[in-house]
Amino acid sequence: MAFRIVNLLDLLQKANSNDVHDFLCTFSCPLNAEIEDFIKNKSIDFSRQKISITHLVLNDQEELAAFFSLTQRSIDVGCDKLSMTVRKKLMRHGIYHEDTNRIQACAYLIAQFGKNFNATAQGECPTGDALMEMAFSVLIKVQHNVGGGVAFLECENRPKLLDFYRNEHNNFHIFGEREADNGLKYHQLMHIFNEKTFAN
Ligand SMILES: CC(C)(COP(=O)(O)OP(=O)(O)OC[C@H]1O[C@@H](n2cnc3c(N)ncnc32)[C@H](O)[C@@H]1OP(=O)(O)O)[C@@H](O)C(=O)NCCC(=O)NCCS
Repeated sequence: MAFRIVNLLDLLQKANSNDVHDFLCTFSCPLNAEIEDFIKNKSIDFSRQKISITHLVLNDQEELAAFFSLTQRSIDVGCDKLSMTVRKKLMRHGIYHEDTNRIQACAYLIAQFGKNFNATAQGECPTGDALMEMAFSVLIKVQHNVGGGVAFLECENRPKLLDFYRNEHNNFHIFGEREADNGLKYHQLMHIFNEKTFAN
């Protein structure tokens, strides 16, 4: 099964907005209503305004199989929560403040990330690990052209999701917690790119 990644902005140049919106509405994610609402109701405006750029993953049948949205933010990381190895790697990408024992760094934010659970597309979805590789492939190109080296994301306290991000393949580490305005708590996780990784 081959997948291709299409930047939503490129699709919007080729097709009219209503058709693109209809296509995005084929996405369904019962496990995470926020992601489904985002792709259907926010992704077009957010991409056009460059708040975050959505990348669609299409399968062989040109169905919407998955998507991820990327942007950048600064992160503020307490060093006491980090292993020595992670701390050293992160220091290469940020500024260490000795008085607070914290590192501030610019990072790529994986703001949205999910597979399409719509019945018609479910057989032709990438695995979560393959989807993460696709998101990394886009970020590695940004890194190659612009610099940077840290990706991060926020995740509710859902053990299976946390296991997924922290598995050997995806290699994210928890570095903090954030409480949203609605009171929901999110774990913050980061992945530091290997210096020897090159863009194709
Ligand atoms: C996260 C994701 C890409 C992982 O894909 P995957 O590695 O191929 O694994 P699966 O889809 O089989 O999910 C693995 C397990 O995690 C569970 N899981 C996945 N997303 C979950 C969520 N948002 N909340 C709770 N459990 C979730 C699945 O139910 C499954 O449980 P099971 O092993 O008991 O069947 C995919 O599950 C997904 O798109 N989830 C919904 C969107 C989402 O939550 N994105 C992350 C936002 S932080």
